[in-house]
Amino acid sequence: MRFPKLIWTSVITLASALFTPGAFAADSPREHLSLDLNWRFHLGDDWPDALHLDKAGASTGPAAEKFSDKSWRSVDIPHDWAIELPFDKSSDGSHGFKPVGPGFTKNSIGWYRRTFELPEEDSGKRIWLTFDGVFRDTTVWVNGWLIKRHESGYYPFREDITDVAHFGGKNVISVRVDASKFEGWFYEGAGIYRHVWLDKTAPVAIAPDGIFVHADFKDNVPTGPADVRIETKVINDLRVSSFQIAQEILDPDGNSVAKTQDSYTCDPSSLDHTVTKDASTAIGTPILWSPESPKLYKLITTVESDGKVVDQKTTEFGIRTVGFDPNNGFLLNGKHYELQGTCNHQDMAGIGAALPDSVQYFRVKKLKEFGCNSIRTSHNPPTPELLEACDHLGMLVMDESRLLGSDSENLKKWDDQIRRDRNHPSVAIWSVANEEFSVQDSPQGGNVARTMQDFVHRLDPTRPVTYAAPEGDTFAGINGVIQVRGWNYHVGQDMDNYHAKHPDQPEVGTEQASTVSTRGIYANDKVRGYVSSYDDNAPSWATTTERWWSYFADRPWLSGGFVWTGFDYRGEPTPYSWPCINSHFGILDTCGFPKDNFYYYQSWWTTNVVLHLLPHWNWPGKEGQEIRVDALSNCKQVELFLNGQSLGKQTMKPNSKLKWDVKYAPGTLSAKGFDDAGNVIAETKVETTGDATAIRLVPDRTTINANGEDVSIFTVSAVDAQGRTVPVAQNNIHFAIDGAGKILGVGNGDPSCHEPDTYIPEIPSRTVAISGWRWQQAKVPHRDALVPEYAADFDDSSWNTIKPKTDGDTGFLVLHQGQSAVYRAHVTLTAEDLASDNIQVRFGGIDDHGWVFVNQQFVGQSADWEDQPAYDIKKALHVGDNIIAVGVFNESGEGGLNPDVNLELMGKPLAAAWSRSLFNGLAEVLVQSTRDAGDIKLTAIADGLQPATATVTTVPGGVRPSVP
Ligand code: GAL
Repeated sequence: MRFPKLIWTSVITLASALFTPGAFAADSPREHLSLDLNWRFHLGDDWPDALHLDKAGASTGPAAEKFSDKSWRSVDIPHDWAIELPFDKSSDGSHGFKPVGPGFTKNSIGWYRRTFELPEEDSGKRIWLTFDGVFRDTTVWVNGWLIKRHESGYYPFREDITDVAHFGGKNVISVRVDASKFEGWFYEGAGIYRHVWLDKTAPVAIAPDGIFVHADFKDNVPTGPADVRIETKVINDLRVSSFQIAQEILDPDGNSVAKTQDSYTCDPSSLDHTVTKDASTAIGTPILWSPESPKLYKLITTVESDGKVVDQKTTEFGIRTVGFDPNNGFLLNGKHYELQGTCNHQDMAGIGAALPDSVQYFRVKKLKEFGCNSIRTSHNPPTPELLEACDHLGMLVMDESRLLGSDSENLKKWDDQIRRDRNHPSVAIWSVANEEFSVQDSPQGGNVARTMQDFVHRLDPTRPVTYAAPEGDTFAGINGVIQVRGWNYHVGQDMDNYHAKHPDQPEVGTEQASTVSTRGIYANDKVRGYVSSYDDNAPSWATTTERWWSYFADRPWLSGGFVWTGFDYRGEPTPYSWPCINSHFGILDTCGFPKDNFYYYQSWWTTNVVLHLLPHWNWPGKEGQEIRVDALSNCKQVELFLNGQSLGKQTMKPNSKLKWDVKYAPGTLSAKGFDDAGNVIAETKVETTGDATAIRLVPDRTTINANGEDVSIFTVSAVDAQGRTVPVAQNNIHFAIDGAGKILGVGNGDPSCHEPDTYIPEIPSRTVAISGWRWQQAKVPHRDALVPEYAADFDDSSWNTIKPKTDGDTGFLVLHQGQSAVYRAHVTLTAEDLASDNIQVRFGGIDDHGWVFVNQQFVGQSADWEDQPAYDIKKALHVGDNIIAVGVFNESGEGGLNPDVNLELMGKPLAAAWSRSLFNGLAEVLVQSTRDAGDIKLTAIADGLQPATATVTTVPGGVRPSVP
């Protein structure tokens, strides 16, 4: 097929709703509330039969409304339980040797529960529950109603839960997550690892993801006015016959620059409750968005019905044009713009896939430090907050789907992804898939890709589409139909040949490099699993850093490309396997500490003057031996010195590096960088340090919000007596935290370190068996009414006894069909017992129906003979003798009370003892604020080193509107 000479897009793009509108907020019934805090979590497949599909509301165990989750751990979302598991050599290496997924059933099912109140005044509103991403295969119940089954671990899902909500009462969300299958070949995490939201709207409201705005410029060059088009989808559940939409645009300085307003009539008898309305306006001299100047506009959309504001949403947006040209490569705002990109997985030291928003910002800033201006969200849709960080900080995005497919289910996911993300100015291009080896060259592969591409053009006419293709000079299948040819690897003749044959098809380096290196290591070490940081190593399909970039830099038609990868990630420990547990591909390690290649990219991707030397200069025992020294720099010439003696001046070729062989002597290796005129414009040195004597702690941010979400990332290092970082220090450091914060996780970037990333606070607990059960047939009303047999002083001495249950014993099933009985037992408790934080009674089974009383107080009811019900009974207990009485009604077969009954006494969670070893001098601690006021003090101690303390101040603010 022929490709248009220039694939162009011009947009005014809108980020999804971010901020509560100022002026009219009080008038709008819309509330966008975080549901992240205060979940309960249980790991394990303890209720395999909880899901019942026969009747509505019939699911059991944690899915049932009445289930007690008090003994479960408290967790906040985002949460990744895979990160909490120990490393295990027998598990999948490409997923980071965590024992979760195929073959690890025990660790692969997790349950979450969250209870919340909805006020009576909310009745009449629509209530939406949204999960941004759960890994994976999720089942959700609300108040015992099954509301969602959703398989993919990367796509968001949302339900209108109004019908099953309790207004003026308690509601419970139960979530079963089944991570026993993989979706990718890299670390994927497990659990509710992205945000959860509760949205409340009026019945007439803007639909979720219901706004799309774009603008055209003449010739796709943003020199004249922007012609703005806004599409607004409204849900009309009240079946009103008319409504008004008013839209106002504020420029980056807050000035009102455009307004639209229109009235719309609808057919109240229409069965379709949604209506989509178009509006257009113009912005005379738009302020353009770019990575270098991420200026954002705001659009305020107000919907009115019957003279009242029924909805209002403020969205941020940026104005820019993007396009791909077969000769000039990527065009941003009408000009050639080299994509200096990195591919990244959603994974970070200490926290796995569960990245708080501030960590997204941290990572985008780190990438920008070496000149990265674009991210490929390999190989899945990103979390929305990553796109927000990219909009705000200035980073372009290649937004990728998880899988190639034109079946209705895959297209529905693609639809959700595009509608959710199409308003972000950062998103510059869509990618239909990555390396679909089995189908990519077939006509069917081409058909499916074309369908996905056409789908994009219907939903988003403003952006082009690519495919991350691993083939060389191949046009068959997907490459023949895709707008922008993507190149995964194949630097060299294949690219030139292909370009010559298909001169009208734009091209981009979707995935390049895969150079492997380990921070602070200068020789390959197969046993320990380390790769040298000299730019020498790449697997067979890949290249060194210098090779790919110097090739691409010479060919503007290639549009630049995306390095595999910006950050190291868990899994894919290429070129090794165990004991390696994470990848070596990163320019930064898993913590975000730069490897040496960072400075190569910084030299050629930024305008900063860069001069960096490698390796470090601590080589005791190598005196007199030759050591290779590289200079990574963009200076015209570099002169190297050892202990003041010049070792020669060399001239730098663009996109290259310089090398010297130097006979090692301890001391100072230094360099001077010169410009064209011979002026010294940069100096650097690497010194032989002494032994480590002290710890240094440096937070990346010294002030964070006291909002329970913000994070400060502490760099931990060991320094010598002169305060110089010791590049070979491996000390084990212990951490303690005080004040308004908690430690989220620790890391050190060592790809072979098996120390925990996170420490779970232990909850001390004791179990007391309740024995000596007596029973007698009695009339038991099928409700929570008292019968005399429940009374504390009832004389049960003549009743039947039950022997303690042994495994497999069903001799306790003494009731026949239709019979009922009361069971009684005593338990003596001390004041110390009652000081426990929580006390539960847990039954081995009540067959079929049970009503449980403690000291004559009703504490709970059970209706499922297969359940092991548990009730919180602390409030009903007292010091001394307590009586537990259970009324049991046996509906069919044999029944009765299983005498395996226990009290569980739980204490307060104990503070965890955090520690991490330094790897080549560095480690990292991620500290998160609570919502309390005050400072956060982190202390680090280690044997033989002077301890360190660092303080982060928290300031009020940034608390998201949340469900209490
Ligand atoms: C690519 C693949 C990536 C990663 C990389 C490692 O082929 O797309 O996901 O596996 O290889 O070099």
